Amino acid sequence: MARRLTVLGTGYLGTTHAACMAELGFEVLGVDIDEDRISALSAGRLPFWEPDLEPLLQRGLDSGRLRFTTSFQEAADFGDVHFCCVGTPQGGEAGGADLSQLHGCIDALAPLLTRPCLVVGKSTVPAGTAASLAERLAGLAGPDVELAWNPEFLREGHAVADTLRPERLVIGVRSARAEAVLRDVYAGLLAAGVPLVVTDFATAELVKVAANAFLATKISFINAMAEVCEVAGADVTMLSEALAYDHRIGGAGMHAGLGFGGGCLPKDIRAFRTRAGELGAGEAVSFLGTVDDINTRRRARMVDMARELAGGELAGKTVAVLGLAFKPDSDDIRDSPALDVARSLHRHGARVVAYDPAAMDRARAAHPELEYAGSILGAAADADVLLVLTEWAEFTQADPELVGKAMAQRSVADGRNALDAEAWRAAGWTYRALGRPSA
Ligand code: UGA
Repeated sequence: MARRLTVLGTGYLGTTHAACMAELGFEVLGVDIDEDRISALSAGRLPFWEPDLEPLLQRGLDSGRLRFTTSFQEAADFGDVHFCCVGTPQGGEAGGADLSQLHGCIDALAPLLTRPCLVVGKSTVPAGTAASLAERLAGLAGPDVELAWNPEFLREGHAVADTLRPERLVIGVRSARAEAVLRDVYAGLLAAGVPLVVTDFATAELVKVAANAFLATKISFINAMAEVCEVAGADVTMLSEALAYDHRIGGAGMHAGLGFGGGCLPKDIRAFRTRAGELGAGEAVSFLGTVDDINTRRRARMVDMARELAGGELAGKTVAVLGLAFKPDSDDIRDSPALDVARSLHRHGARVVAYDPAAMDRARAAHPELEYAGSILGAAADADVLLVLTEWAEFTQADPELVGKAMAQRSVADGRNALDAEAWRAAGWTYRALGRPSA
């Protein structure tokens, strides 16, 4: 049965979910309070960088199955299933999640719901949120309105593939009816063999934060090994290659370098610690504080390495920074390790000239104090040190000889262990990398 879906909140998650659901054949209405965003999406323009998503958006619009609006009334009248995809950013220094967008969304929608429907939370939330939202919903909406929780595991840069071919679906439900509705919505994916785990609310919420906590821990584990490698004269890239052959460990998501950033892992591990503490289980996840600290130390180490390559003093030196986004194939600069390092170099008196294939506009708007170049060679012009801080293919495939000609001095620090060290050394570069011997 072709159900009519709404997607509330058109950020990375919501826009991807809306376009993918339209691609799967549903009629979809995307809703946001940001009028500029809705106009852009209605015209087929993505307000952020995400490979493969724009053609899907355009196909959805052309087919008439995908539309966008700022009207909650229209959404309430239209939808059989309402997916709530609004952001849950870090709330403040204490690290707890800010749920105001989620509350705002439920408060705006619920009183308008007059037909039977399912409201499905997809945002990342602290355990216990769904239970309290269900109460809130029951107080504001009619009796035929129910809540379910369906966390999302998509990665930026792979959002379309992760949504159309997810590794698993998780749904937290309180009734057979809610389960049946979601099984119907995801029937195509289930028929294609995607595993489904049906749980209670709290488990569904926790699967998501536990997954991100594990991923962050894995990254910080290998980065902790990188710290040890640096003092022991060992090479973390060979260490992780050797570890990866043990299938219980595996190599995926264990790439040593500048560490994790973005709008998810850092804030999710902090919110998890805060919530676990509130629930009386703070000790159980206290290691996440260490995970966070290891991650932050990598950024400081990168600045030290740049200083060493600059001859012991950053002031007055020109540092070319390649990469500003928190990872390749994204223009997202939220808690970006690369941007953090660039800002820190600037604070230490270096002249920083940065280039990123996608994140320039966002970085320039947020940090006009940095200088920006239009290409790798533009950033490298007369620079004393080159830093590669985001592993875009454009950087890893760059010709070390050509880049070297632009530099004042051939010194490079590879913050992502992404360059071909031998090729750069053969072209006369002093090559340094996190977790690897200096020569
Ligand atoms: C992450 C999770 O991977 C998704 O499963 C989850 O759905 C998403 O958060 C979310 O909560 O919405 P994402 O933030 O897009 O996805 O990025 P990742 O690919 O996980 O990378 C996160 C950071 O870790 C990046 O800064 C990346 O450079 C870094 N990283 C990743 C490493 O330093 N080493 C690795 O081996 C992998």
